[in-house]
Amino acid sequence: MSGASAAIQEAAAVLARGGLVAFPTETVYGLGAAARDERAVARVFEAKGRPSSHPLIVHVASVVEVERFARAIPEAARVLLDRFAPGPLTLILERKEDVPARVAGGQPTIGVRIPDHPVALALLRAFGDGVAAPSANRFGSISPTTAAHVALELGDRVELILDGGACRVGVESTIVDLTRDAPRILRPGGVPAEAIEDALSTRVPIVEADDVRVPGALASHYAPRADVVVVVEDGLATALRDARHRRPVVLGEGAPDGVPSIALPREPEAQARRLYAALREVDERGFDVAFVVLPEAAGLGAAIVDRLRRASAPRTGH
Ligand code: TXA
Ligand code: MG
Repeated sequence: MSGASAAIQEAAAVLARGGLVAFPTETVYGLGAAARDERAVARVFEAKGRPSSHPLIVHVASVVEVERFARAIPEAARVLLDRFAPGPLTLILERKEDVPARVAGGQPTIGVRIPDHPVALALLRAFGDGVAAPSANRFGSISPTTAAHVALELGDRVELILDGGACRVGVESTIVDLTRDAPRILRPGGVPAEAIEDALSTRVPIVEADDVRVPGALASHYAPRADVVVVVEDGLATALRDARHRRPVVLGEGAPDGVPSIALPREPEAQARRLYAALREVDERGFDVAFVVLPEAAGLGAAIVDRLRRASAPRTGH
């Protein structure tokens, strides 16, 4: 495509021949494959070590292209696309008949999103069709927010990594399911739930997706090797006292004298942007337990609380 850089053209060509390309989005880096190429999509699941029943999000460059993957665009979808696309939003819609079931993990639905990153959009335009892209990390581990993170996790499993710098949002897209009677949020993310509710003029509950609704036990995800312990404001000193025998670190402020800390801003947008890099730093510096004070679960804070709860959930074998 004229106008696209040589790297973008090369990346589009890799996708066209069934290869994998890691690329930046405004949320996190994605591990991309041609959405309609079943063998390429199978390689994504394999590279990530992800169960093939877990559906992938299809990334497209425009609203018109959403219609190539969704059977219909309900009014609520129009409203949300109007307001938030391109942006950190994924819509779950009815899957169009000719879209392979594999990319949707066998679901009759499809997750679609228009990322707000110049490199992602250039790639999608150059490729000319949907690109399936989960976060470019091994299953269960921390999503990458820089090209260097991708190289560490999947460097030997992708043909190409496009470097677009550090991700601006830092946590994944908000997933809104529009296939039921009422809209619901399956994953809090870069677009605050409050903004979704405002756009739709209705309450939109955040629910656990059916397949991870296990009472009392959130699946471990977004997790470093070290343990993560979330504490409420004022609970830090007590929690640290109980963990004296280990190599603790505090994410953010409030570490007592003698306990090391890793910077994590308090302001929700800045905190989201820095969160995954901070969790990675815990492992890089050899700490075995990280303490972090939960932010208020409003705005982007809801996504941060969700990720920290999963990072701190009991480990279940991955
Ligand atoms: O911000 C993001 O969304 C990033 C960037 C790369 O775009 N992608 C991302 O993909 O987070 P992934 O695969 O790590 O997470 C996708 C989530 C999964 O929890 C999956 O279950 C859900 O989206 N999902 C995808 N399609 C779905 C569907 N048809 N129905 C229900 N959930 C779906
Ligand atoms: Mg992921």
